[in-house]
Amino acid sequence: MYGDDIASVLITEEQIKAKVDELAELIAKRYPADAPEGDLLLVGVLKGAIFFMTDLAQALQIPTQMEFMAVSSYGSSTNSSGVVRILKDLDKDIAGRNVLIVEDIIDSGLTLSWLKRNLSTRNPASLEVVTLLRKPDALRTHVEVANVGFDIPNEFVVGYGLDYAERYRDLPYIGTLAPKVYTPV
Ligand code: XMP
Ligand code: MG
Repeated sequence: MYGDDIASVLITEEQIKAKVDELAELIAKRYPADAPEGDLLLVGVLKGAIFFMTDLAQALQIPTQMEFMAVSSYGSSTNSSGVVRILKDLDKDIAGRNVLIVEDIIDSGLTLSWLKRNLSTRNPASLEVVTLLRKPDALRTHVEVANVGFDIPNEFVVGYGLDYAERYRDLPYIGTLAPKVYTPV
């Protein structure tokens, strides 16, 4: 539907579905359904994590609640600086709750590392991270991630929530962009 904007399909819809189920099974095991901390609180990072968040919540098969946060990191559109601004904060207090940050992609890891520090000051009972995708540079930052869906090459990817200039989020798969999309003619 985007013509030949997508150069290649990196991860198919079927592969994503299978991975979400696999991650859900691993995660559900860590959180007892009748925990004194209450239902597991999923914190989705807007906007990229929306599809992963909803698919994961349905696959988890334990009671979960959902909160969303929107952050923007200063710097160029393709390189984050680690200086983060909150565009939309959580609606609820997370003190004493089991919190799972749901991320679309970790690149440098700077955004996530800031987010983890920020949320940990709010005294959750536990704070873990699941990310669908991780790029190689993320391995150099020392931010602990409980579950990773796919380790991918250092290429710009779109689809399944991920965008280029707000487009392509609606694709059901993860693909790489044709250079003509971001190269001025
Ligand atoms: P850092 O470097 O702080 O940045 O881990 C993570 C954020 O950068 C964005 N990002 C991407 N967005 N395709 C995208 O659509 C990509 O290939 C990509 N790599 C990084 C994204 O917002 C992520 O949360
Ligand atoms: Mg993001």
